[in-house]
Amino acid sequence: MKDVFAAIDRLPKAELHMHIEGSIEPEMMLDLGRRNGIALPWRGVEEARAAYRFGNLKEFLDVFYRGLSVIVTEDDFFAVTDAYLRRAHADGIVHAELFISPQAHLGRGIGFDTMMRGVLRAFESARGGFGMSLKLIPLFQRHLPEEGAFPILDMAEPWRHEIAGFGLAGAELGNPPQHFERLFAHCRDLGYPVVAHAGEEGPAAYVRDSLDLLKVKRIDHGVRAADDPGLVDRLVREAIPLTVCPMANVRLGVFSSFAEHNLKALFERGVKVTVNSDDPSYFGAYLGDILKLCVGELGMGFADIVQLLRNSFEAAFLPERENEDFVERLHQAANASAD
Ligand code: HPA
Ligand code: ZN
Repeated sequence: MKDVFAAIDRLPKAELHMHIEGSIEPEMMLDLGRRNGIALPWRGVEEARAAYRFGNLKEFLDVFYRGLSVIVTEDDFFAVTDAYLRRAHADGIVHAELFISPQAHLGRGIGFDTMMRGVLRAFESARGGFGMSLKLIPLFQRHLPEEGAFPILDMAEPWRHEIAGFGLAGAELGNPPQHFERLFAHCRDLGYPVVAHAGEEGPAAYVRDSLDLLKVKRIDHGVRAADDPGLVDRLVREAIPLTVCPMANVRLGVFSSFAEHNLKALFERGVKVTVNSDDPSYFGAYLGDILKLCVGELGMGFADIVQLLRNSFEAAFLPERENEDFVERLHQAANASAD
């Protein structure tokens, strides 16, 4: 197992489902809170970490919104993004499409430009320092009305070249894809690919409706699709990527343990599964750790891990040629480990 883990460490990786605000570690959260005069309910790092126990998505989102309230200045956005990118680089991540939730910041009086300038300064630093390939995917929040989201597309226009697409996140149950049909049609008219969180807590029908009504290119999570065998057949047939986040699912009670997660079953059924960290500071694991849990807890082999990473590179919103170059790099690294 040690050799397999070392070989996994050496593989180039992609991450397609990671919320920048969900990567703020408690040390930085408390520090920014003090600096910006934002009160938090936790007195120290231990107390904060102890509060990261969630019965469901709603309980997590309450903590997630509380945590992100400390991010105020351009430098704060830089610091949070930069800290994640350093860890990502150490994990072997060479391409990432990172989520950010502009409405969670605009609603607190933070400017869209403040957010973008801080995040993109960290991107530039990681591109220059680590050679990483980076894009941003702003997410709309599904508990908010569709109308309020349209101005974000105008705000994003000057940064179009940094944006891989748009997505949908937040409390899933009761906030179905059909509430966002017009918004997503507008995104597509502007030329953006779209994604949506679906089938995390919500039913398989939300996965199908995200495909049919929102015309998403990837499903974020999607694990509840397994409840509908016909839908799983379709995911396989149409090669729809799922950005699966097993640690998130375990920590939010979707599966009672990692060993019971269905990602291996979906993968073996032929679904284009990718593995991601979602909100790594809150769920306690970054991508490298999670891939190793796929080996240790699910019994996946090195070849399976290589295939999961290949799926990520193929599912990335990059020009075809760049996807192929990454897959080639992956296979060279995998073959070097086999020698
Ligand atoms: N699900 C939905 N919304 C989110 C999540 C998630 O896992 N993380 C941050 N926003
Ligand atoms: Zn997510």
